[in-house]
Amino acid sequence: MSNNTDELFKNVIAHAKEYGFVFPSSEIYDGLSAVYDYGQNGAELKNNIKTYWWKAMVQLNDNIVGIDSAIFMHPKIWKASGHVDGFSDPMIDNRDSKKRYRADQLLEDRIANYDAEGKTDEAEELQKEMDEALRAENLARLRELIIEHKILCPISKTGNWTDVRQFNLMFSTQMGAVADDADVVYLRPETAQGIFVNYLNVQKSGRMKIPFGIAQIGKAFRNEVIARQFIIRMREFEQMEMQFFVRPGTQKDWFDKWKATRLKWHLALGTDAAKYRYHEHTKLAHYADAAYDIEFEFPFGFKEVEGIHSRTDFDLSQHQQFSGKKMQYFDPELDESGKPYGNYVPYVIETSIGLDRMFLLTMINAYEEEDLSTEEKQDSRTVLRLHPCLAPVKAAIFPLTKKDGLPEKAREIMDKLKLDFNLQYEEKDAIGKRYRRQDAIGTPFCITVDHQTLEDNTVTIRHRDTMAQERVPADQLEKIIGDLVSW
Ligand code: GAP
Repeated sequence: MSNNTDELFKNVIAHAKEYGFVFPSSEIYDGLSAVYDYGQNGAELKNNIKTYWWKAMVQLNDNIVGIDSAIFMHPKIWKASGHVDGFSDPMIDNRDSKKRYRADQLLEDRIANYDAEGKTDEAEELQKEMDEALRAENLARLRELIIEHKILCPISKTGNWTDVRQFNLMFSTQMGAVADDADVVYLRPETAQGIFVNYLNVQKSGRMKIPFGIAQIGKAFRNEVIARQFIIRMREFEQMEMQFFVRPGTQKDWFDKWKATRLKWHLALGTDAAKYRYHEHTKLAHYADAAYDIEFEFPFGFKEVEGIHSRTDFDLSQHQQFSGKKMQYFDPELDESGKPYGNYVPYVIETSIGLDRMFLLTMINAYEEEDLSTEEKQDSRTVLRLHPCLAPVKAAIFPLTKKDGLPEKAREIMDKLKLDFNLQYEEKDAIGKRYRRQDAIGTPFCITVDHQTLEDNTVTIRHRDTMAQERVPADQLEKIIGDLVSW
């Protein structure tokens, strides 16, 4: 049994691998740092999380539509968005170990040490000085702080540091056959820009009226220098983003609305509300006039899962300037004085959630090592108490034995249900073992076909959470499963 949070986290990672949820990428070549593959159950769970988000954002809101823009985009887009010049981390190298570190992370660790040693004044002072240096982008000052506070290289234990330099997080590659600087393209570090540059295409072709939103799910890439905590910080990951276009001056109301709506989406999965909190950004990005994170309490502490940002008209105005194309919207509605609002560049509220972080949150929340011991014998099971809508497999079908026509009958029942639900057929091992395997991947129902089924067409259905079993007519299965797992 896991008795501390570190162990719990390790167990979840091991479970994710053992049961086909997440594998280290390129494992037979010793892996690729901060890159992961989703296995057969992970891909299903991921798809179900995407569907839950898409339905909540696109299907339930008639003023939000979804797109799927390309990963490669014109390089000027990243100039306009500020990513070429501003999307970087301050890095410092240790000359002895030849290892690279994030300068702010080294200072954060020092602050945590001061706190742990009860030196709260030193911690506060260093935090203040670091914040000031970061705000002023004063890289020399960051280095001075590292030297002044005698920070040693965690590996070689020397203080032999280079200068601090900015390290851009975007991956670049070459487009076309001939290598030429002019052909450099970037792998997008966020999906949002694909929405901004298409906003007028969507608005015109969809005859959208402000306020309206555009949603997108897709891969994003960041050359994170410090990759840690499993799928929390990856170099290739997925985002689910929505840009909501509003009239200037109304952004505060929409920001508050989306902030509340998005937390509700998380809580509707039945998660304990105490595990979530908002974190307000006090240091705002250059494009934002308000920003909050939705944080979840992972075993290693609260971490951002989703950001809600009020991005003003920054992105659209930048694209207007860099492309030379008008990004204005014509608003025919009348203001209080009876005049049309006319032409303006809309303001944008963004909701941006990391799919992989949502995946990890879901696994951690669902994972339980349950003690089933009785006075007679010790017993336990590992169960994923996933929301049935998210479960990779909705029901498993077991013939009690491999003979007497039971497999054929089980297949016949399965064939009737498999168009509507993702099912698994299993005939190996004793029924108890088969239950445990399904518990471990979060399957809400196990259906057993036995000799009585051949006589009266009833089956045993066993519920994952309570482990209770009941006898039901096979032709009611569609409704029983459907009632629990449909959205
Ligand atoms: N368009 C706004 C944007 O990209 P962000 O806060 O940089 O904002 C949004 O990213 C979300 O994407 C984060 O809340 C996080 O869940 C996820 N995310 C960001 N970097 C990530 C990484 N390296 N690995 C996994 N998820 C990441």
